[in-house]
Amino acid sequence: MANFNCNMVYLFYLMMVFFWFGHFSASAFEFQVGGNKDWVVPPANDTKIYNDWASENRFQIGDTIRFHYKKDSVMEVTEAEYKKCNSTRPNFFSNTGNTVYTLDHSGSFYFISGAAGHCERGQRMIVKVMAAEEEDFPSGGDAKRSSDAAVSSVGVFKHVLVPFVMSYAVASVMF
Ligand SMILES: *[C@@H]1O[C@H](CO)[C@@H](O)[C@H](O)[C@H]1NC(C)=O
Ligand SMILES: *[C@@H]1O[C@H](CO)[C@@H](O)[C@H](O)[C@H]1NC(C)=O
Repeated sequence: MANFNCNMVYLFYLMMVFFWFGHFSASAFEFQVGGNKDWVVPPANDTKIYNDWASENRFQIGDTIRFHYKKDSVMEVTEAEYKKCNSTRPNFFSNTGNTVYTLDHSGSFYFISGAAGHCERGQRMIVKVMAAEEEDFPSGGDAKRSSDAAVSSVGVFKHVLVPFVMSYAVASVMF
């Protein structure tokens, strides 16, 4: 009986590890722009809400950002166009009210509202996407510079320790 319990715990632990790896390493993450706010003209006394939000998050290649809005639009433009709120020739345009944009390369993405006057009033945002090499790795030179091979101390915590503790907790309830 003791053996059986042990195997079950081990199996459960493995499943949890796969789950966590799948969730945090392999598949992309979706961000709602502005946290749970909509894509709207920011209040006049707080015009930097989107850039503040963006700088608080870590975006990686393959992640998506979702814009939620009414009677407005989303444009992805060049840096120069972003600075001038120039909406004449965007790289990307959407006005569906629910736009999911995939961050498909590293570097900066510049988003503005296409509605007249909205960008000027602060409805714009720069999203910086990290290159794979910019991820946190342990500071001992030999670690492979590959997001699959290297596991940072945070990674160990998230991917191994947390599922282990969770599986232990569940196991002690179950058995
Ligand atoms: C902006 O003004 C509103 C009310 O007019 C106030 O509640 C809010 O705290 C202000 N925000 C900032 C960042 O000053
Ligand atoms: C806006 O951008 C377009 C294309 O990038 C350019 O031709 C135009 O001159 C720009 N307008 C202003 C006012 O900068």
